[in-house]
Amino acid sequence: MASRGSDPIRRPLRVPRLPAPKFPPVLSLAFAWTLLWAASAVAQPLPPVPVPAANPITPQKAVLGKILFWDQQLSSDHTVACGSCHLTEFGGADPAVAVHPGADLIFFNADDIFGSPGVVRRDPGGAAIADPIFGFNRQVTGRAAPNFFGGSWNFEVLWDGRASTAFDDPITGVNLIPVDGTLESQSLGPILNSVEMSKDGRSWGSVTSQLAFVKPLVLATALPPDVAAAITAFPTYPDLFNAAFGTPDVTPARIAFAIATYERTLVPDQTPWDAFIAGVGTALSPAQQAGWNFFQGASCAGCHRPPLFTDSRFASIGLRDIADDIGREVVTGLPSDRGHFKIPTLRNAGLKPSYMHTGQFANLLNVVRFYQPGAPRFFPNLSPGIPVLFPPGVELPLVDFLQNGLTDPRVAARAFPFDRPVLAAPEPAGSWQLGAGLAALLGLRAARSRRRGC
Ligand code: HEC
Ligand code: HEC
Repeated sequence: MASRGSDPIRRPLRVPRLPAPKFPPVLSLAFAWTLLWAASAVAQPLPPVPVPAANPITPQKAVLGKILFWDQQLSSDHTVACGSCHLTEFGGADPAVAVHPGADLIFFNADDIFGSPGVVRRDPGGAAIADPIFGFNRQVTGRAAPNFFGGSWNFEVLWDGRASTAFDDPITGVNLIPVDGTLESQSLGPILNSVEMSKDGRSWGSVTSQLAFVKPLVLATALPPDVAAAITAFPTYPDLFNAAFGTPDVTPARIAFAIATYERTLVPDQTPWDAFIAGVGTALSPAQQAGWNFFQGASCAGCHRPPLFTDSRFASIGLRDIADDIGREVVTGLPSDRGHFKIPTLRNAGLKPSYMHTGQFANLLNVVRFYQPGAPRFFPNLSPGIPVLFPPGVELPLVDFLQNGLTDPRVAARAFPFDRPVLAAPEPAGSWQLGAGLAALLGLRAARSRRRGC
C-alpha cells in the first residue's frame, strides 16, 4: 500500500467512456421525452463565488492561503496539512482508507467509518500519549472528508452545516464578517482540533508563534510556480502576511482570511458538462448525454441541482442507522433533521476514492445501485425522492456521466489553480492504516464526544 502524503498516491477506480447505450424502443421513447424536457430546462453555468465585502480576493492573500493550506507546519507536530485530507487529485477529498470505529467505538463492525487520519494524540507539552481509541497510531476523523471546492458557494459547510456564516475574530470576539464568512469560520476549526492537526490544549498563541519562526513550506517539494515565486519574494510568514495584509502580524483571523481566499479561487467550472450546456454538443458523449438526461429527469437533480450539483440543503438517503450520527439535528435541534447530511456537490465526484460521509462506497456504480429500490436502507427521516426508479440500461450511462462528465480536467491533472506541492510523508509507509488502538480492540468505551473532524 502506498504511503499517504507521498506521491503518487492510490488512484481511484476509473470508469472508461462508454459506447452509446442501445435502448429498447419503449425506453427510447422515454428518453426522447426526457430529452425534450431537458431541452426546455435552462441549465445555467456556475455563478460567481460569493465573496464577503470584508475579505476581498487579492493575489497576495490567495497565494498566502495556498501556502498555509499545504503547509504541514500548521499542525502542532508538523505532520498534517489541510491538504493532507483534501487532496486535489481525489477531487478535494481524502483517500479515506483509515478506519474510525463509529459510534459504538468498536472496530470492524457495521457502523465503522472510513475517515481521514489526523495526528497522533499529544499532551499540551507535545509528548505522544495513548488515545483510548487509537493508541499511539494516528487518530481518525469520525466522518469522511468531503470535496472542499464546493464549499465556496454554500451558505453552510461541513456535513451537518455547523460552520457559522458569521465570522468572529477568535482572539477579540469581534464580528469581522456578518454573512458569507462560512469558509473563514470553518478554516480555523481543524488547526486546534486534537484529532486533525493539534496537540491537546493548543492555543492560538502557540500556532502563530510556530508560524512566525518556520520557513514556509520547508517540508514540501515541487512547489507550484506561484507559491515558489511568493516564497522567494517573501521568505518568512511575517513577510508573506505583510504582503497580504499590510503589516507582518500573524493572527488567526488573518490565517482564516487567507485560507478562505485561496479556497474561493478554486472554481471547477471547466467540466465537459459546462462545455455541453454552453452549446458544445459533442462535449458529452451520447452515453453521457443519456446519463445526464436521466439525471435531470429523475429526482437526482432535485437534490443535486445543477450547476453546482447540490441545492445546499440537507437530506437523508437512508445510509445508516440514524442513531450512529444524528447529523444536521446537532445544528437545528429538530428531530426531523436527525440523520440528515449535506447534499454534496457532484463536481469532481468522479475523482473521489470513496463516497458519502461514511466513505462506505468505493465507486460510483455502488452509489448508483444504492439509490435503487431494494438496496438495504434505513427508513426513519428518509427524504422524499428516495429510492429512485431506474429503467434498465441507464445505470452505466449515469455512472459515465457522473464519472467523466462532471470532472474538471484541471483538477484531475493538478493544473493551476488546482496545482499543489508534494507533501512530506507524515510517517513511514504502513504505520497509519487502521488506527486500531489495543484498548478499542478490547471494546473499551471512550468518551463518545470525539470530535467529528474539521
Ligand atoms: C485530518 C483530516 C483533515 C484535515 C487536516 C483538514 N480537514 Fe477539512 N475536513 C475533514 C473532514 C473529516 C471534514 C468533514 C467534517 C464534518 O463534516 O463533520 C472536513 C470538511 C472540510 C470543509 C467543508 C466542505 C463542505 O463543503 O462541507 C472544508 C471547507 C475544509 N474541510 C477545509 C479544511 C481546511 C481549510 C483545513 C486546514 C485548516 C482542513 N480542512 C483540514 C478532514 C480534514
Ligand atoms: C433527497 C435528496 C437526494 C436525492 C434525490 C439524490 N441524492 Fe445523492 N446525495 C444526497 C445526500 C444527502 C448525499 C450525502 C449522504 C451522506 O453522506 O449521508 C448524497 C450523496 C451522493 C453521492 C456521493 C457524493 C460524495 O461526494 O460522496 C453521489 C455520487 C450521489 N449522491 C448521486 C446521486 C444520484 C446519481 C442521484 C439520483 C439517482 C441522487 N444522488 C439522488 C441527496 C440526494
